Amino acid sequence: MAKKLIDLVGITKSYGDKVILDDMNLFMNENRFLTLLGPSGCGKTTTLRIIGGFETPDKGKVIFDGKDITSMPPNERNLNTVFQKYALFTHMNIEENIAFGLKIKNKSKSYIKDKVKYALKLVNLDGFEKRMPDSLSGGQQQRIAIARAIVNEPKVLLLDEPLGALDLKMRQDMQYELIRLKNELGITFIYVTHDQEEALTMSDTIVVMNQGYIQQIGTPEDIYNEPQNAFVADFIGESNIIGATMVKDKVVDILGTKFACVDEGFGTNKPVDVVIRPEDIVITEKDKGIINGRVISAIFKGVHYEMEIDACGFEWLVHSTVMAEPGKEVGMWVDPFNIQIMNKPESEDEKVLVEE
Ligand SMILES: Nc1ncnc2c1ncn2[C@@H]1O[C@H](COP(=O)(O)OP(=O)(O)O)[C@@H](O)[C@H]1O
Ligand SMILES: [Mg+2]
Repeated sequence: MAKKLIDLVGITKSYGDKVILDDMNLFMNENRFLTLLGPSGCGKTTTLRIIGGFETPDKGKVIFDGKDITSMPPNERNLNTVFQKYALFTHMNIEENIAFGLKIKNKSKSYIKDKVKYALKLVNLDGFEKRMPDSLSGGQQQRIAIARAIVNEPKVLLLDEPLGALDLKMRQDMQYELIRLKNELGITFIYVTHDQEEALTMSDTIVVMNQGYIQQIGTPEDIYNEPQNAFVADFIGESNIIGATMVKDKVVDILGTKFACVDEGFGTNKPVDVVIRPEDIVITEKDKGIINGRVISAIFKGVHYEMEIDACGFEWLVHSTVMAEPGKEVGMWVDPFNIQIMNKPESEDEKVLVEE
C-alpha cells in the first residue's frame, strides 16, 4: 500500500477578489512522480507554493506526514523547490552553490564535501566543483539547481516547470534524467507543467487542473485513454470531440448515425460528448465503414498522414499510415472500444474554454 505523504484539505486561495483555488482536495502518495498539469494561469504554481510554504491558504490545511504544516515556514518543511529560473549564485562556483544551504545549517566541512560530491554524481556532473555557473549550459545549470535541492535530503522535491527554459532536445534528455533521479533517490517528486507530453512521459500520477479546479486524477494511460470530460480530452491531445446522444447502454448516436460503444450507465437519450482519437479512426472504402465522408486535406507527418475528413457536417481529424487523396469519398470505421463517452461539462466556464 502506498503511503499518503501530503494531504491538501479544502485549500482555498484568492488574490484580491479573484478566487484562484476553490476548496481543493488532493492527496499525494510517497515515492511518486506526481504532476500538476494545466493551462497557464490555472493555479499550478499557487498550489506548489502553498505546499512549499511560500504562500498561506485563506482556508484549508496542508498535512505532511500526518502533521499540520499549514503555517510552518518553508525552511522547516522537509521539502525543496526547483524553479524554472535556476537562480544560481553567479559569483560562487558550483561547489559553493550546492553547499550554500548546508553551510547555513552549520554542517561540517567534510560532511558538506561528501554531499556535494554525491549530488554532482547523481546529476551526472562529477568534477564540476570549481566551474562557474556562467560556463555551464542551461541544462547543466538546471542540474546544478537540482543538485542544490537534493543535498538537503528532502522527502519531497517540488519542481515548477524546471525544463521550461531549455530547448527541445535538452528538455527531452532532462525528462529521462529526472525519471532516473527520482528512482535513484526514492523520494516524491511533485512536478508542475503545462506541457501534456512532458506530463505523460514522466508521471506516475497526473492531476489535470483548469481554472483552479481539478478535472481528473489518474495515470497517464487513464488520462489519455479515458478522459473524464471534454476539457481533459482536448488538453491532453488531438481529439475529435463531438456532441452526441447516448441512445441506451452501448449505443451512441453521433451526428445521426448509431455507433456501437462499450459504455453503460449513462441513461437513455442522454446528451454526452464523445472523444475519438485521430489514430483510432480506420479509413475504409466508401460504404464499407460506419459513415462516409470526403477527404478535405492530407498532410504527411513522418509516421502517419494527418487528414481532415468531412462527414455528417463535422470535420474529423484522422491519423493513418495510409493516405486517402483529397476530394475522395471514403468510409470510416471505429472500434466500439475506442469510442470514449463523457458527461457534458458541468459548468458553463468549462464549456466556453473547450470551445474557444
Ligand atoms: N501574487 C499574486 N497576486 C495576484 N495574482 C496572482 C498572484 N500569483 C498568481 N496570481 C494569479 O493567480 C492565477 C493562477 O496563477 P498560477 O498559480 O501562477 O498559475 P499557473 O502556475 O497554473 O500558470 C493567475 O491568474 C495569476 O495571475
Ligand atoms: Mg506557473
